[in-house]
Amino acid sequence: MLDTTHIRETLERHFDLSPDPDLAEEMSDIYARMKRVVPPADWAIHAPYVKAIDTLKREKNAVILGHNYMTPEIYHGVADFVGDSLQLAMKAQETEADIIVQAGVHFMAETSKILSPEKTVLMPDMAAGCSLAESITAEGIAEMRRRYPGAPVVSYVNTTAEVKAASDICCTSSNALQIVEALEADTVIMTPDRYLAQNVANQSSKRVVFWEGSCIVHELYTAEDLRAYREHDPEVKIVAHPECPPEVVAEADFTGSTGGIIRWVEENRPRRAMLVTECSMASNIADALPDVEFAKPCNMCPYMKKITLEKILYVLLTGENEVVVDPEIAARARVAVERMIDLSKKLGL
Ligand code: 13P
Ligand code: SF4
Repeated sequence: MLDTTHIRETLERHFDLSPDPDLAEEMSDIYARMKRVVPPADWAIHAPYVKAIDTLKREKNAVILGHNYMTPEIYHGVADFVGDSLQLAMKAQETEADIIVQAGVHFMAETSKILSPEKTVLMPDMAAGCSLAESITAEGIAEMRRRYPGAPVVSYVNTTAEVKAASDICCTSSNALQIVEALEADTVIMTPDRYLAQNVANQSSKRVVFWEGSCIVHELYTAEDLRAYREHDPEVKIVAHPECPPEVVAEADFTGSTGGIIRWVEENRPRRAMLVTECSMASNIADALPDVEFAKPCNMCPYMKKITLEKILYVLLTGENEVVVDPEIAARARVAVERMIDLSKKLGL
C-alpha cells in the first residue's frame, strides 16, 4: 500500500502544489461546474492538482475514467469520462489512450484491463475495494452451480476477474433485468448482490436464486426512514439505486443505475429530490440543476472515497499501482463482460 508521506514527498519534488487563489481564478470555467458544492478556498487547494494532472494526462496520452461517486473536484476537474459501471466499461473498450487511470474502485479497473489488455490501467489506491466484490469467490460460483445444476450464472460487474471468469455473463445495475430476461432458462443464478437479485426477481418472470452479498452503503437505507421523510415533505421525489433492499425500492419514485438516476433527475427536474445512494451523486449534479433542491440523508462509500486528486497525480507521475490480471483468467472473464456489453448494445441500453 502507498504511504501518504512518501506520496507527498515525491509530489513536492516535481510540482508546486500549494494553494493558489490566482490559479483558481484562472481556472474558473472548471470551478463553475462545482461552485454550489465546493467553497472557493477548497478550489484554491484543488486547482494546482487539477492543472498538474491535466498536463501529465496530455504528456502520457492517459485518460481518467471517473465513476459517478467520485468527489466533485475529480468528477468535474479531471475525469475525461464519467458514468456508471456499464458506461465506463464501454469507454474502456473504445478509448485510444495508452493509459487508463480508473477513478473508481478496483473491480472497475479490472474490468477496464479485461476489456483493454494492451493498455496500462492504473489504480490511484489499490485498497479501493467493494463489499460486494469481497463477498464471493470462484468457489462460491461453483457452489451455486452445484446447488442449481444447469442454471446460468449472471454475475454483477462488482466482482473480481476470477468470479467473472467463472460466470456465464455479467450485468450491471442498468441492465440486470434485461440480461436475466434474455437468458433461455427458467431459473437464473444471480451473484453476489442479494438485493439487486430480489429487485430483479420482483420484475421478472423467472425464478431468480442468489448469493447473500450486499453493498454496505445501500443496505443502510430503510423504508421507515423514507416514509418518514416523505411524510415531512410530500413533494419530494425519491430516487433509489437497485442495491437497496426491495422494501426501500418500493418507496421510490424511480430506481436505476447511477447513470439512470442522473438522467431521471435531469429529465424530470423535481423541485426536491432525495437520491438514495452514495453522497457524491447529488453534489456532482447540483450545479447543472440549480432549480433542484437535494435532500441529503446520504451514505458514503469508504472505498470510493479512497480516491483523491493527490493519488491520481501520483500514479500518473510514477506509473505505480498498475492493475494486472492473469491473461488466462482475463480471457475467460472477457467472454462474460463482452456478452453483457453486446447484449446491452443490441437491446439499445
Ligand atoms: P452503477 O453501475 O449504477 O454505477 O453502480 C456501481 C456501484 O458500485 C454502485 O454502488
Ligand atoms: Fe461497492 Fe457499495 Fe461502494 Fe458501490 S457503493 S463500490 S457497491 S461498497
